[in-house]
Amino acid sequence: MLPEHLAVIMDGNGRWAKARELSRSEGHRAGTEAAKNLVTRCREIGIKHLTLYTFSKENWARPKTEVAQLFDLLTLFLKKELKSLQEQDIRLKVLGEISDFPFGVRQVVAHTINRTKNCKGMTLNLALNYSGRDELVKAFRSIVEAGIPADSITDETISEHLYTAGQPDPDLIIRTSGEKRLSNYLLYQAAYSEFYFTDVFWPDFDEQELQKALDDYAGRQRRFGKTGDQV
Ligand code: IPE
Ligand code: IPE
Ligand code: MG
Repeated sequence: MLPEHLAVIMDGNGRWAKARELSRSEGHRAGTEAAKNLVTRCREIGIKHLTLYTFSKENWARPKTEVAQLFDLLTLFLKKELKSLQEQDIRLKVLGEISDFPFGVRQVVAHTINRTKNCKGMTLNLALNYSGRDELVKAFRSIVEAGIPADSITDETISEHLYTAGQPDPDLIIRTSGEKRLSNYLLYQAAYSEFYFTDVFWPDFDEQELQKALDDYAGRQRRFGKTGDQV
């Protein structure tokens, strides 16, 4: 079985660079290449929703120069890839508070979203300035603002008020670089996700590494509370 929704925590760009005596900036550049290749591969094999953790709300705590470089790489990526996204029929969506980003970045993000809004082959969600807890706070606020009576709020109501409204929950979450934590990623949506951790640093996560993760996932039994005999 192929996951319908694959979510990735692309981690280890800095350590990949350090191991090669390169700058962190070179690591992020290589990481962007890996992300581009992953998008293409996921589209080819038929994944319908791909979510990439691109910039967390906590990442603002990094040195200003590094944050600026991450914005530059994102802008360049979207400008360079627009045509290819359209050709591959990939729709871009953003999960996160993009309004805090510099004007130029917001502009190119909005342009790419607009130009790909009718694409149906795959949805590419970029988690940008994303925080799972903030997403929930925002959802609860909008539920209250909409005047939805307390006793009619269900788990679907909450799902519908998240950035991922209308999309299935991630079936598989991959994290690279050996770290084993969620880092505030998709807290609500990850309720029944399968997890795959690899020591490979993000820039080295290629087609073969993806296949290993997918093979591992295919061998899992998802029971959702039932016994093994029932599923
Ligand atoms: C992931 O790589 C990229 C972002 C978080 C933007 P890191 O930059 O976190 O790499 P490490 O963890 O320092 O190796
Ligand atoms: C998570 O990676 C965020 C992204 C991949 C964009 P980090 O490297 O920032 O995570 P922590 O803070 O070390 O957990
Ligand atoms: Mg990291």
